[in-house]
Amino acid sequence: MQIKNLVFESPFFLAPLAGYTDAPFRHIAHDWHSACAVTEMVSAEGLARNSGKTEDLLARYEGEEKLIVQLFAPSRDPVQRCLDRLLKHDPAMIDINCGCPVPKVVKTGAGSAMMRHIDDIYDIVSFLCANAGCPVSVKFRLGWDSGSINWPEFASACASAGASMLTLHARTRSQMYSGKADWTQIRKLKEMFRDTDVKIFASGDLFTAEDGISVMRQTGCDGVMFARGAIGNPFIFTRAEELLKGNSRVISTDEIRNTMLRHLDYMIEHYGSEVGCRDMRKHAVHYVKGLAEASRVKAVINSARTRQDYLEALSLLEDI
Ligand SMILES: Cc1cc2nc3c(=O)[nH]c(=O)nc-3n(C[C@H](O)[C@H](O)[C@H](O)COP(=O)(O)O)c2cc1C
Repeated sequence: MQIKNLVFESPFFLAPLAGYTDAPFRHIAHDWHSACAVTEMVSAEGLARNSGKTEDLLARYEGEEKLIVQLFAPSRDPVQRCLDRLLKHDPAMIDINCGCPVPKVVKTGAGSAMMRHIDDIYDIVSFLCANAGCPVSVKFRLGWDSGSINWPEFASACASAGASMLTLHARTRSQMYSGKADWTQIRKLKEMFRDTDVKIFASGDLFTAEDGISVMRQTGCDGVMFARGAIGNPFIFTRAEELLKGNSRVISTDEIRNTMLRHLDYMIEHYGSEVGCRDMRKHAVHYVKGLAEASRVKAVINSARTRQDYLEALSLLEDI
């Protein structure tokens, strides 16, 4: 799959997930063949003001080649002010977040509030297309609520401003993350851009590799963003890639154990032992979900402070 000058080995991307898609998670996803990954959303204002904490979100793991940076901003002004700092990180693509539903973001006019300000997204995308030197994409929702579905108008504005890729999270802002994602709207979006170079990505209710294949078949979309389905489950990328070729790939408990430990090691390398071990807990509980003894393992993980604590948690899986 190709987006402008960028070539991707598969259509399966790791979606932006605030609090999750840091360098270690993107690294482990890459080990399991994610074609590309998006950073957590980054505040354009924070970056413009030179906040070290904001810029930390742009850190790469060693060898990370293509990185999509996701920005959130209510208007062009902060995007313009942060651009020099952003470009020093050499993003492969810049994505604009128009889907975040959380009040802290929405009340600034950014995230899904952008769906109510189509002129502003047009302005941001055209500015970036003219000045960033890399492809620009937008991730958005169906609309603010069921009474104001306006994705067709919104998508048209993004494309006419020059966006190369559009990702539709097929829920409204009011739905937050619950209720069923309406994939039929993704099919309509793909139909709308059938004769263009704009790539259409699907998001919403993609919890398994099989879901990824289904959404491609049902909508004709060009790519898939795995989000919650990839947490503690980087295997989803390899499994989807294999399914696309007609193969079924089974993941063994050993592979789960070794992958979780490798992810932990990436965390320790990136954040140091204390923070790495603490922040790994939210990933680790997902790795063991569904395995026999999961509740005993999770209890140990929930208070893990050292690598040794994780080894002890995993030893409970030994006989499986
Ligand atoms: C914890 C969490 C954090 C998220 N952070 C972001 C984000 O930073 N940027 C964004 O565009 N979407 C974000 N999303 C939305 C996901 O990328 C995705 O669109 C959504 O979860 C729907 O996909 P799913 O139903 O397959 O999980 C987040 C979702 C969750 C659950």
